[in-house]
Amino acid sequence: MYKYGFGTKDSTYRELLSSIMQSAISTLKGEHQFDQTDVVDLLGKTAVVTGGSAGIGFEVAKALAESRARVLVLSRKSERGEEAVRKIREVTSGGVDVEYLEIDLGSAKNVREIADHIRNTEERLDILVCDAGIGVNKYDLTEDGIEHHFGVNNLGHFCLINRLLPLIRKTALLNQAPAPRIVQLSSSLHLTAPSSIQFASLEEINDDSLGANALYARSKLANLLYARFGLAKGVLEKGPGAGRIYALATHPGAVATEQQDQFKDAYGQLFGTLLKTATIPFMRNPEQGSLSTLWAATSPDVEMMNLNGEYITDPGKWGGESDQGKDWQLADNLWKLSTELISQKAGEDALLDWTGVKP
Ligand SMILES: NC(=O)c1ccc[n+]([C@@H]2O[C@H](COP(=O)([O-])OP(=O)(O)OC[C@H]3O[C@@H](n4cnc5c(N)ncnc54)[C@H](OP(=O)(O)O)[C@@H]3O)[C@@H](O)[C@H]2O)c1
Repeated sequence: MYKYGFGTKDSTYRELLSSIMQSAISTLKGEHQFDQTDVVDLLGKTAVVTGGSAGIGFEVAKALAESRARVLVLSRKSERGEEAVRKIREVTSGGVDVEYLEIDLGSAKNVREIADHIRNTEERLDILVCDAGIGVNKYDLTEDGIEHHFGVNNLGHFCLINRLLPLIRKTALLNQAPAPRIVQLSSSLHLTAPSSIQFASLEEINDDSLGANALYARSKLANLLYARFGLAKGVLEKGPGAGRIYALATHPGAVATEQQDQFKDAYGQLFGTLLKTATIPFMRNPEQGSLSTLWAATSPDVEMMNLNGEYITDPGKWGGESDQGKDWQLADNLWKLSTELISQKAGEDALLDWTGVKP
């Protein structure tokens, strides 16, 4: 069983450091000409942001609310979620429409319940940001008995997207522009995912011999594959609103958030603390980290340049995904496995028809 450290199965600290340095360089060079105040007016639009209680997700939720969208913040710990909503109301210009909903993305049944509540009570859904996630952390299982990076970062969002899609499709039919968006937070660390990944079975997913970085990298690869193949080049090409719903994956840069606190769990107290202390000074702040996702979720350029399925690494910048991130077969395996696992954990009827629309 894997314990701590960077053995051959987890020899990726170089990639972690390289990713941090690259985002520090691009931030210093001021490469992007887009900030939170450039988000278009979203009056009348509704957004859901998972993980909106902290870090990058908080900044995304805040900026969307400031741009006059109705924003639903979804996260696991209600006291932190309520506090985040209170803070958004306090720091924005007032009169913002923001609400909190508790969800555990590690429980397919709970995701089903919350998604149904949103689908049944909201009139529309223009922007769905799938931000919530476990960072580079040790092996653990969700309430559903699934390796927690895969369970929370991937499966929970897979089920959420499925059960919210009828509402998104309805929204795509309601108005002419802009098209609804589904944005998944991936990471440049997906480039370090092990070549052995097949997404073939639960046994493969629950193999506890992978190191912390590999578990995280696999989940971020899966976020990318869902967006590109499962959604953009998959179910969104068919059904009501086809061609008018965009799915994108993003990399926020290396961002100083609570995720670095998880290094201790992944690599032990001493090395985890050292790694955190050594890397944080080179990282982006959460506001800077929100920009690629805000751009993907709101910029008219996405539609104008038809960037459906792209991997956005900075505002106006895309590409650079791994060969695995372009592997249709891998994406197909992932989609089939996700379907099977959600049905097992939340019932045969847990997934709605991917082409259905909310009446
Ligand atoms: N930070 C980086 O350098 C970096 C780099 C690349 C990609 N990313 C990606 O960006 C996203 C946000 O990262 P971050 O650094 O902002 O993370 P963070 O500060 O640790 O925030 C994580 C968010 O996810 C929520 N969450 C965790 N487990 C959950 C669960 N089981 N159910 C529902 N919500 C859950 C947390 O809510 P609670 O507090 O209530 O648990 C929190 O709101 C992640 O997908 C991450 O992989 C981050």
